[in-house]
Amino acid sequence: MADEYERSAEFVDVMLAPHWAALGPPLAEALQGVTGPIVDVGAGGGHGTRVIAKAVAEAEIVAVEPSMPLRSILLARVNESAELRDRVTVLPEPFSEAVLPPRLSAVVAMNVIGHFDAAGRQALWTVLADRLVPGGRAVLNLEPPAEPMAVPESRFADMRIGRRRYEGWGRAEPAGPDRITWHMTYRTYQDDRLTGVLEARYDWWVLDERRLKEELGRHGLVHRRTGPDELGMYVIDRGGA
Ligand SMILES: C[S@@+](CC[C@H](N)C(=O)[O-])C[C@H]1O[C@@H](n2cnc3c(N)ncnc32)[C@H](O)[C@@H]1O
Repeated sequence: MADEYERSAEFVDVMLAPHWAALGPPLAEALQGVTGPIVDVGAGGGHGTRVIAKAVAEAEIVAVEPSMPLRSILLARVNESAELRDRVTVLPEPFSEAVLPPRLSAVVAMNVIGHFDAAGRQALWTVLADRLVPGGRAVLNLEPPAEPMAVPESRFADMRIGRRRYEGWGRAEPAGPDRITWHMTYRTYQDDRLTGVLEARYDWWVLDERRLKEELGRHGLVHRRTGPDELGMYVIDRGGA
């Protein structure tokens, strides 16, 4: 599997950090009552892994992260804390190849579902249907756009670290009936002088709530909104069935 984050990981983890200020509290809330094990699918550098560990004391966490540079950040972040070191296992395979515990209390897939095509999502829903313990659940978010459409270029990140300033820009274009391509540009400035430009593209499968409901229904799963509307977060479970 090609690693779309191979060159951009340096920017991706720091640019995701501010989003986690908003995503963290509703994710922690959605995990209330869960025990473990918990799978963090596409854990990236581990912002979410840290939230999960804090929200669910003592739970075993399996953080699945196939991108080597992002996984390096994740492993270092886990290693920095004696508590995380004790509880978090980092797996390098993509989700479809990762060997997971047979019973799961929760599965978290934040900022990641767009990397899964219909077959990949089907495999994810199958894992939920087969392995979630009673009361278990998944938490994920759907990011816009929900349909394949052009998204004009905009700046989504602007952060200063030391003497350097990092800007993230992105635009998208349709790439098929349920797919877009994101074109990202990461610009680095030192003392306001442009010192580097990195361009990256990500394939992204779009998914709206109607299709989510339909796909989940085929596996006996139901979804409900959680957290502030603008975050597009959902809890998925068996709905008391
Ligand atoms: C935008 S990042 C989000 C990282 C993290 N969840 C966060 O929100 O901070 C998307 C992540 O999904 C991972 N990913 C992509 N395809 C995957 C797959 N098939 N299985 C597991 N992870 C995958 C990428 O490597 C990347 O770390």
